[in-house]
Amino acid sequence: MANIAVFGAGYIGLVTAACLADLGHTVAVRDIQQDRVDRLRAGEVPIHEPGLGELIARNTERLTFTLNADDALAGAEIVYICVDTPPTMAGDADLSRVWSVVNSLKGATDLRAVVVKSTVPVGTGARVRSVLNEAGLAHVGYAANPEFTAEGRAVADFMTPDRVVIGGSDEATVQLIADLHRGVDGPVEIMDVASAEMVKLASNAALMTKISFMNEIAVLCELTGADVELVAHAVGLDHRIGGHFLQAGIGWGGSCFPKDSEALKQLASNTGHHPQLLNAVIEVNNLQKRRAIQKLKQALGSLEGTQIALLGMTFKPGTDDMRESPSTVLAARLLAEGAKVRCWDPLAAQDLAEPWASTTRHDSPLEAVTGADAVILATAWPELREVSWEQAHGLMRRPVVFDGRNLLDPPAMRTLGFTYMSVGRA
Ligand code: UGA
Repeated sequence: MANIAVFGAGYIGLVTAACLADLGHTVAVRDIQQDRVDRLRAGEVPIHEPGLGELIARNTERLTFTLNADDALAGAEIVYICVDTPPTMAGDADLSRVWSVVNSLKGATDLRAVVVKSTVPVGTGARVRSVLNEAGLAHVGYAANPEFTAEGRAVADFMTPDRVVIGGSDEATVQLIADLHRGVDGPVEIMDVASAEMVKLASNAALMTKISFMNEIAVLCELTGADVELVAHAVGLDHRIGGHFLQAGIGWGGSCFPKDSEALKQLASNTGHHPQLLNAVIEVNNLQKRRAIQKLKQALGSLEGTQIALLGMTFKPGTDDMRESPSTVLAARLLAEGAKVRCWDPLAAQDLAEPWASTTRHDSPLEAVTGADAVILATAWPELREVSWEQAHGLMRRPVVFDGRNLLDPPAMRTLGFTYMSVGRA
């Protein structure tokens, strides 16, 4: 069993650390946020991720949390870099946090390998390698071990993945990292560092492409009288295509897809390549959110002075994560059109910045729809299927619903007297 230092206690770092500890390794987690470290030391889990709390509680003897890089590195044989790589002003991935970890490794005498799990541009591993060499750490191995964990099911994705990808140039390092995963139920794919870095970006791009593709088909369905739900289901039954990530809606968001699509686009542009398909995938996604507002305007006329209930704020159900949530764009657009926005979400934080600070927050969907001229369903929370829409009809000023996630049954909603619109369904 290995001694591991994990840098970064965000979604990826915490899940990685907790899972590695559960596999029997000793893990020291280092984060730069005092509050986060304090909470973790007190046994609190600062993010909502199913199963993570139990995993941390079960492995307290093997898991420590610290603010101090040297403490985390003392005795560490392997360093996992799990810091965030947000976009720079230019849209490239900002690697400054990765570099600050790499630059802190000089005195780590027991170190055998540095592993990058953060999503980074292709070529980062080669640069880290030369910085390690210059720092007198040529004997320390390097591996890229990208993550494919989706929020809300990150622990399961780590423990039973479709694949573990390890990119490295020396066999001993690759084997060391593969050995760490003993107990993980999934195939291990070994390759060079650049290919492993590209697998991560290409996988996310493939998933975004599937969604944007189906969102474009949804527009064509609306124009031709077809039903995108029936179409997506039958298309997905073809095993060459597969049924996942074909759900039409108001588009993808989150901490990964928007940032990674932009980073891949800039990576392509930096090499002089014009990434046509990727650009279209991004554009379809941007338009999809704005189409939602257009549909509301078709039903209500001007939105000036209207009250709109926005049900669902997080970028997908099962998470409290608001990063790049499509509903943030909807809230901002609605406010810009002069509407008042009444929100409900079961997990989103209360003290959010603009545009949310200019909206009102309500404890239940029914409270949010009271007096509303229209409702937008923006996140596929299962709770929204359970709402008594009959009761909601009685509470609303005008019975207009735009279902941005195709959660509800169109004939049933129309029978209740709603003007009901959704995505790609006649
Ligand atoms: C995504 C990938 O699924 C993970 O494999 C990857 O590891 C992760 O990014 C990452 O790079 O770290 P995540 O951002 O948690 O995971 O969320 P997804 O479940 O992929 O959903 C992304 C967005 O796509 C959400 O806004 C969701 O509502 C939307 N979506 C998803 C659709 O609109 N339609 C679909 O059919 C599926």
